[in-house]
Amino acid sequence: MDHYRVYGNPIEQSKSPTIHQAFAKQTQQEICYEKELVQLQQFSEVVSQFIKQGGKGANVTAPFKEQAYKLCDHLSERAQLSGAVNTLSFNNGAIFGDNTDGVGLVQDLLSNQVVLRNSRILLLGAGGAAKGVVSSLLAQKPDLLIIANRTQAKAQFIVDQYPEENIQSSLYNEVAKYHFDLIINATSAGLTGDSLPIPNQAITTNTVCYDMVYGKQLTPFLVHSKALGAKKVIDGLGMLVSQAAESFAIWRGIKPSTQEIMKQLRAELQ
Ligand code: ATR
Repeated sequence: MDHYRVYGNPIEQSKSPTIHQAFAKQTQQEICYEKELVQLQQFSEVVSQFIKQGGKGANVTAPFKEQAYKLCDHLSERAQLSGAVNTLSFNNGAIFGDNTDGVGLVQDLLSNQVVLRNSRILLLGAGGAAKGVVSSLLAQKPDLLIIANRTQAKAQFIVDQYPEENIQSSLYNEVAKYHFDLIINATSAGLTGDSLPIPNQAITTNTVCYDMVYGKQLTPFLVHSKALGAKKVIDGLGMLVSQAAESFAIWRGIKPSTQEIMKQLRAELQ
């Protein structure tokens, strides 16, 4: 049986083992997929041990995505652009790194009927979570992609990786002059009421608001967006499942369907 892991710190909350076991069952494959808590200084050691034991691949979550990127012998183009890796594959001792977060986000948006082509998108945050999705969003050919961050230099650093002219950086309080079709929260901040760093005018009845995180309750960003009359609010559960499906396809050569496990996880959250 082939063995896989998800590495993170913390990791207890991870739903990846449940998701991958469901994919394996659905596609009639036998895999063993386990979560493992990794101490902050031990990431590369843990990965080499797993390779020695014959491990086939691993998912990587916070805070190890940048370290995983540095560990790889080969990188996909999207992993190279994002500077972060969430999917490792091991083959004859070599480590191949990919990043499926962006494609997971885009697939979830499209399956929620969000139109990305020619749209105006605001991405909040310029950390690892934001970096990982920019190339996939640009590939959908929006009219404009603005990355807003408290520290604008970090947003500009991401913008500088791309030759496209429809990508810009901004401070939060400067985005009021635009109306957005889509606003994606990729910050790690609990964005509540008054502390929401974007001006209220940026959210209109035509704006879809997406939060990369999810939980039992609607996130504070989504509560606030809904109160302002946003067209639709969507949490990150679908992104989680879709990025996992893409990792599974990289490892197993078959793309599982995400609907059933989405329903199951949503029901478990209630
Ligand atoms: P992640 O891997 O989750 O993206 P990260 O790389 O630490 O984590 O990035 C966190 C992001 O959330 C950053 O964009 C950060 O803004 P700064 O770059 O200006 O620090 C943003 N963030 C965290 N706390 C925030 C807050 N209270 N208000 C606004 N943005 C915040």
